[in-house]
Amino acid sequence: MLKLSDSLKTRYLCLQILFGVFKKKQTISQILENQFLGQTSYQEGDLARAERVSNFIFGHLTGIDECINLYLKKNIKLEVRNIFRLVVAEAFIDESPDYAIVNSAVQLSKINPVTKYVSGLINAVSRKIVQNVRNQNHPLKPTLNGTLRTYLSQIYSDSVIGRMEEIMSMREPIDITVKYKDETNFWKESLNAFELPTGALRLGRNKKLSTLYGFNEGKWWVQGISSSIPVKLLGNIAGLEVLDLFSAPGGKAMQLISAGAKVTCLDGSLKRLEVLKENLARMNMKANVIWSDIHEFKTNKKYNIILIDAPCSSSGTLRKNMDMPHLFPVKRMADLLKIQSESLKLAKSWIQKDGIILYCTCSLFPAEGEEQISQFLKMNPGWIQKVICAKSLNLESKWVDKKGGLRLRPDYLFELGGMDGFYAAILVKKN
Ligand SMILES: C[S@@+](CC[C@H](N)C(=O)[O-])C[C@H]1O[C@@H](n2cnc3c(N)ncnc32)[C@H](O)[C@@H]1O
Repeated sequence: MLKLSDSLKTRYLCLQILFGVFKKKQTISQILENQFLGQTSYQEGDLARAERVSNFIFGHLTGIDECINLYLKKNIKLEVRNIFRLVVAEAFIDESPDYAIVNSAVQLSKINPVTKYVSGLINAVSRKIVQNVRNQNHPLKPTLNGTLRTYLSQIYSDSVIGRMEEIMSMREPIDITVKYKDETNFWKESLNAFELPTGALRLGRNKKLSTLYGFNEGKWWVQGISSSIPVKLLGNIAGLEVLDLFSAPGGKAMQLISAGAKVTCLDGSLKRLEVLKENLARMNMKANVIWSDIHEFKTNKKYNIILIDAPCSSSGTLRKNMDMPHLFPVKRMADLLKIQSESLKLAKSWIQKDGIILYCTCSLFPAEGEEQISQFLKMNPGWIQKVICAKSLNLESKWVDKKGGLRLRPDYLFELGGMDGFYAAILVKKN
């Protein structure tokens, strides 16, 4: 195991993340899981900082590389470029003295056989980069990269994409859902939170969740405003049987349970189901938990409601997954679109005559939302889309599209810190 000083540990991890995303095409969570296997000495704080710095790099990559290219030819090795990317990011984030930024860049270069021969160059150029940032010669703008931007520009105007990029540069807010609605005011005051128009609470900055009152006591859970809206669209569901397909880690399941529904949670990932079970235990909630791929699931039971929170591109959750734009393979879309349409088809066979299908995705792409619903309705003339009533839930009217679906964008509630992109639609059978 590599022995690293405290000051190098996080920076080294950051380089591992950059290399993993850019070269191996792994997500940050996959990389961090591997880190735990070989390297046990990382603390929660190290991981959080490494993730924060690398997310800054992913979100500002174009500007950061321009900063580096002022001093170097474009075709430097990835490992060398990543060290400079770290230097630029650290200079901007401005939490370490200049000498520490430069010294650690040099030390990091000496650890890796690919970069150890250029430590002199790294020293000289890092000094210039830091100086340039200090002189404010190079303001950085957050930008979406590559294929994802191209994809989005076919759907949204430049100004909307610009606002989404601005949101990316703001720290992600932490929203919570309280278990008992009538305790909202109490938790608002206890946690010094503010209430969003939908009733979700938004916490102030830099709160460490597990130390906050009510978390371990199971009084509330973390859930972004966007993902907390779909279940609210169902109205009174007390006593109803709900099948929550794609349930883990259980944010929506907990909402369903606290609204009094009898919930069956199904998910294909054992690991994610473990997290779901931990969440339910902490919240003192009960559900029927099933580990199964939806294609293998068999039941004769007919449910009142089926919630499909389908696997998707996650393009709505950019701020949480800044690595995503750099990993976004258009190829993966075909598989996602397939499982989304198949889940709608399967849900039909498990629903009661007067049942409801609630379909949602945390995607910005109509192909994973609006178009899935149109296709379903075309193939199933016995079904209709129920129009969501914005007013009754205190939603802004522009959040509901012409067909009655919920279409949320990251730049909505901009002044309050934005939200994730999301889509939801309610399907019911014709009378
Ligand atoms: C968007 S997440 C669900 C989030 C969850 N509904 C919540 O509110 O916390 C999608 C989930 O689908 C699961 N999944 C993906 N493919 C699946 C499949 N073929 N069968 C069952 N579950 C699957 C993943 O394991 C993942 O937990």
